[in-house]
Amino acid sequence: MCGIVGYVGHRTPVPILLEGLKRLEYRGYDSSGVATMNGGGDMWIHKRQGRIRNLEKDLPSELPAATMGIAHTRWATHGPPNDTNAHPHRSRDGRIAVVHNGIVENHSALRKRLTGDGIVLHSDTDTEVIPNLIAKFYDGDLEVAVKRALGLIQGTYGIVVISVDEPNRLVVARNGSPIVLGVGENEMFVASDAPALIAHTKQVVFMDDGEVAVVEPSGFRTTDLHDRPIDKAVDELDWDLQEIEKGDFEHFMLKEIHEQPRAVTRGLRGRAHLEYGDAHLGGLNLNRREFFDIRRMGLIACGTSMHAAMAASYLIEELARVPCKVDIASELRYRNPIVDAKTLYFAVSQSGETADTLAAMREVQRKGGRCLGVVNQVGSTIARESDGGMYIRSGPEIAVASTKAFTSQLLALTLFALKIGRMRDLSAAAGRELLTALHELPGQMQSFLEGADDIERIARSLIHQPYCLFLGRGPNYPAALEGALKLKEVSYIQCEGFAAAEMKHGPIALIGDGTPVVFLVPKDRLHTKTMSNMEEVKARGARVIAVANPGDTEVEELADEVIIIPRTHDLLTPFLTVLPLQLIAYHAAVLLGLDVDKPRNLAKSVTVE
Ligand code: G6P
Repeated sequence: MCGIVGYVGHRTPVPILLEGLKRLEYRGYDSSGVATMNGGGDMWIHKRQGRIRNLEKDLPSELPAATMGIAHTRWATHGPPNDTNAHPHRSRDGRIAVVHNGIVENHSALRKRLTGDGIVLHSDTDTEVIPNLIAKFYDGDLEVAVKRALGLIQGTYGIVVISVDEPNRLVVARNGSPIVLGVGENEMFVASDAPALIAHTKQVVFMDDGEVAVVEPSGFRTTDLHDRPIDKAVDELDWDLQEIEKGDFEHFMLKEIHEQPRAVTRGLRGRAHLEYGDAHLGGLNLNRREFFDIRRMGLIACGTSMHAAMAASYLIEELARVPCKVDIASELRYRNPIVDAKTLYFAVSQSGETADTLAAMREVQRKGGRCLGVVNQVGSTIARESDGGMYIRSGPEIAVASTKAFTSQLLALTLFALKIGRMRDLSAAAGRELLTALHELPGQMQSFLEGADDIERIARSLIHQPYCLFLGRGPNYPAALEGALKLKEVSYIQCEGFAAAEMKHGPIALIGDGTPVVFLVPKDRLHTKTMSNMEEVKARGARVIAVANPGDTEVEELADEVIIIPRTHDLLTPFLTVLPLQLIAYHAAVLLGLDVDKPRNLAKSVTVE
């Protein structure tokens, strides 16, 4: 949530900072700002409400000379998005500037304390206390002042601080909000996420909570809050620039929907033992005995990742015969969860930084539980703090609405279900059957996506409807939830997903003449049951849009529209049913003229609770 970029070196910082901010705009986009400084300590700050293009548009034709700077794109937590509340925030004496991600929880008490000292703050933000505390403690050493100020702060932060008294130096600190340093040739970069750095360097250092770095053009040094030195490893990012660019696609969301066949291929590579009908997953850090001892599973996630976890829970129970519970991370973390040694947990997160998922994982670990990660972002906090896990390998996901992460997370957990299943009751033949079907998925996804021209017309039929329902059974119930989430996220059309039969217990009251109801009805063992539910809504005048397999005459006769998806293994149907739902959401948003990749009020990486 919110994006941070920092630079110190020999180049003009503003273009570097703006380019970095644009790559992070998915993290927040209600206002933005930049501060630069030259070697003489002349600081210049420029902030604007709205998108980064507003900031860029109002730049002076001649930029002040500078060799370092900090920048921020905001997702408002405290105070409305306006120029004043935008970051960087400066101390009242004008000597310190800060960009901050996270929340200062005790900001009211700190504000009072500063007011008592005669320092009146003028923004509504929690952040503004930080530069003022640093300025108050500044006595010739920025690093010392930052550490003293942080000692008073409760909450989360990723901050970059500059001072007019110490040009060519960034002081960076992290507690709960990600920060990564980029190492260049006589220049250094800082960002909240690696995509902001990739155009300049692949050499990165992921900071951990409780660390402070002093960053200068020649390099950096890291200590904890008590000045103990910390040696940090430099990692190499394995992304390409083109992976974080739109290429020929109009939007990232469409690009990422189309990347799913490739992501599934990547997710399968080296992980399938066709001969034994088994999966090979490195990095789980579980020995044979520990695998065998797993009696229950718990999946922890938010948003789309939670829907992927829910769909996976059906596969885990079916293939492994291990009870599997899915928890909304924000609920689990405050519930005093019952954690026992025989339950294996997974924190499922695309970004690996979602505050609630991370906190829930830590709570499980604190209680002695083992929590693995299912993560996309290499080097993210969940990836590093989990007790092992699987990378989903779907490549950078930029659009705020998650698409390819859903199928890739489901794939990783399916492989895990297969592995644990093969240690129990699942036969080699059943394992082979599943793996064969998994290997067919990329081709099936590709052929569906290539022939999906009709979806735009179907999306058009939904955009002026006040309400829309998504229904499915079994693993297609979470896929229906995901379809509804996608549509509401990007098109703002009110819609809900339900278990198809549950619809009778309330939502059916919403159905009238022409109410659109999207049914996920692949030819699986629940087909007949789902068809009965379809009859029930048809009898009440609904307009049924069915997602079904080829040659399903029953569906063809009853539904008003049929979207055909290829037939697959019964347990794998969500990999394919979700595709048309993602496309419906995408086209609806485009037709409504909305900003598909950056829907209102949302952010991609929710690092506040
Ligand atoms: C935000 C995003 C969603 C995402 C969710 C969980 O709400 O807008 O697209 O599914 O966070 O994110 P994670 O990175 O943990 O998967």
